[in-house]
Amino acid sequence: MAVTEGRADLAAVRGTDAGALLSHPPVPPAREGPGRPPFADFRAYLDYLERARRDPDAYWAEIASELEWMAPWARVRTGDLPDFKYFVGGLTNVSVNCIDRHLRQGRKNKAAIVWEGEPGDRRVWTYQMLHDETCRVANALRQAGVGKGDVVAVYLPNLPETFAVVHACYRIGAIYNVIFSGFSADAVRSRLLDSRARLVITADATYRRGRVIPLKRTLDEALDGLDFVERVVVVRRAGIEVPMAAGRDVPYDEFVRGMPARCEPEPLEANEPGFIIYTSGTTARPKGLVHAGAGFLVGAYANVKWSLNLQDDDVYWCTADVGWLTFPIFALVGGLAHGATHVVYEGALDYPSPGRFYEVAERYRVNKIFTAPTALRMLSRYGPDWPRRYDLSALELIALVGEPLDPETWYWVRRHVGDGRVEINNTYGQTETGTAWISGVAGVTPARPGSCGLPLFGYQAEVVDEQGRPVPPGTTGYLLITAPFPCLARTIWGDHQRYLDTYFSRFPGRYFTGDAAVYGDDGHFWVLGRVDDVINVAGHRLSTMELESALINHPLVAEAAVVGVPDAIKGTVPVAFVVLKSGVEAPAGVEDQLKEEIARRISPIARPARVYVVDAMPKTRSGKIMRRLLREAVAEGRITGDTTALEDPEVLERIVRAVGPAGAPAGGQHQGERQRGA
Ligand code: PRX
Repeated sequence: MAVTEGRADLAAVRGTDAGALLSHPPVPPAREGPGRPPFADFRAYLDYLERARRDPDAYWAEIASELEWMAPWARVRTGDLPDFKYFVGGLTNVSVNCIDRHLRQGRKNKAAIVWEGEPGDRRVWTYQMLHDETCRVANALRQAGVGKGDVVAVYLPNLPETFAVVHACYRIGAIYNVIFSGFSADAVRSRLLDSRARLVITADATYRRGRVIPLKRTLDEALDGLDFVERVVVVRRAGIEVPMAAGRDVPYDEFVRGMPARCEPEPLEANEPGFIIYTSGTTARPKGLVHAGAGFLVGAYANVKWSLNLQDDDVYWCTADVGWLTFPIFALVGGLAHGATHVVYEGALDYPSPGRFYEVAERYRVNKIFTAPTALRMLSRYGPDWPRRYDLSALELIALVGEPLDPETWYWVRRHVGDGRVEINNTYGQTETGTAWISGVAGVTPARPGSCGLPLFGYQAEVVDEQGRPVPPGTTGYLLITAPFPCLARTIWGDHQRYLDTYFSRFPGRYFTGDAAVYGDDGHFWVLGRVDDVINVAGHRLSTMELESALINHPLVAEAAVVGVPDAIKGTVPVAFVVLKSGVEAPAGVEDQLKEEIARRISPIARPARVYVVDAMPKTRSGKIMRRLLREAVAEGRITGDTTALEDPEVLERIVRAVGPAGAPAGGQHQGERQRGA
């Protein structure tokens, strides 16, 4: 059976020249390496890799032992893909590992969070302050009747309070659900409907490119008619007036006022759910991936250890937004578990000028950054004069995740950002895998520009053909994972069958990533892109189906197809094709109206670059829209792929003419829109 939800097809990455990518030779790690490298040399790294390959359970147990447990586990692992458990019977608490542990290790007066708002306001929280606020929120949640297993939705921007709220949930065993603060009401509503959160924490507003984004107002719209949300807690961020529903809404300050700064942490079994994070799949309905509390902690801790080699005196900045898993992995949980100082920034990286990114790095003497390819592409567009104006001498490492990194951007960053010696670690991961599991080891492994490096310790990857047979180096195939690991999502909230169907049915017994990849003779992997209906727009993961269903809801639209096409900055942008209802004349400005419809319903980040009104869709004889041909028409301005399945080839010809020869939409429309890296 094909992936039930998907139309996985290697044709999706046909345009990528894997040979050209593989031609980039390895570049040794930066001479001085970030901090003390975790291995004496490359040989020692390879030995360790081999040891972990032979006995992955022993490896994961070794990592887990670096963390604090309230009761030891009885078994490192039971079961196998897709039904497995780790550290069975072990009891721990994530907030204790990320906060309390550091108080006992001499870090209580160390800055945990150095926060900067977009307007330039600043706050610093020490580990002690983070602890106290976390406990106050945890006690307030308990008082509000929230306990172990209850769902709390977190619709917040990057604020210090966001850290306290998330760790308060961990502390009492509530399951938190982060929802990207850039989502519009419909996207928020569908996630709440699925998670059935009893309590939602939001802010009055956040700042974005100088504008006040009214989060509470959007939430109110999303909550209209939903009666299961008992409480809405509102952090005062911008100080704007917001309507407060009597009996339901409470200001955050009032919620935590008078609460004790101590709160007994709940001992939680290692496999109990820690959080739900929604991600776009290949249907209109987003999937609520469920990560185990301790499993995610162990994975994220290891990820940060190897990909960043985070040290006690590092000043570390993860530029991601809390609504995408990058932030929990690399800041909220994985970063804090290492006790580093985190720079946290609220706004757009190029606001009010393209220098903001460098300015923040300079101000706090940031030495390690975690960001996204789209952010680096944006910076390279602004040119090398910007980084030259700032003192970036502290900078040692830039790691990234989210989409393919083109080698040109790699070389640009190396040359222009920080004296030509900054290490660049392009890592690959997914919301599902809870970690960026293909990655260089900071200070140790050579990088091949554009590649993601080798799978980290404890992960087993395979690249296979249509029949699931491993392919040799240099051949493009589907990327699979063949063995379990602690931080793989354990289920989809409320729909375990969908979990099995989506990830384990196409290649039974193995996890299917939905990505195409190629690897070289030296074991380096290049992930080429999705082979299904998921697109990564400026690193934001969206489902083309979700966009299509928003269009179909519009009263004028009969049919809609959305495809992702390459874009110079955002990596991919959505382009929509619509057929209007019969008898409807296309009114003037209908394209703009439909773009707005998507922005309003889903998010401004999802706004299509182009909307084409066409008279019919290219369909197979069985009535399926051949989206890959639409993609080709836009990206290449002509069709070279197989069209034999088409019912009416003339439809396609008309579309190709309508799209025009240089079909690709203009890039560089990043101004005013959000990037995951920012
Ligand atoms: O297509 C791959 C792409 O991003 C997808 C995962 O998106 P998301 O779940 O939002 O990621 C969360 C990150 C923890 C993947 O299926 N992707 C991610 N990193 C890379 C990448 N593609 C190529 N190279 C990468 N380094």
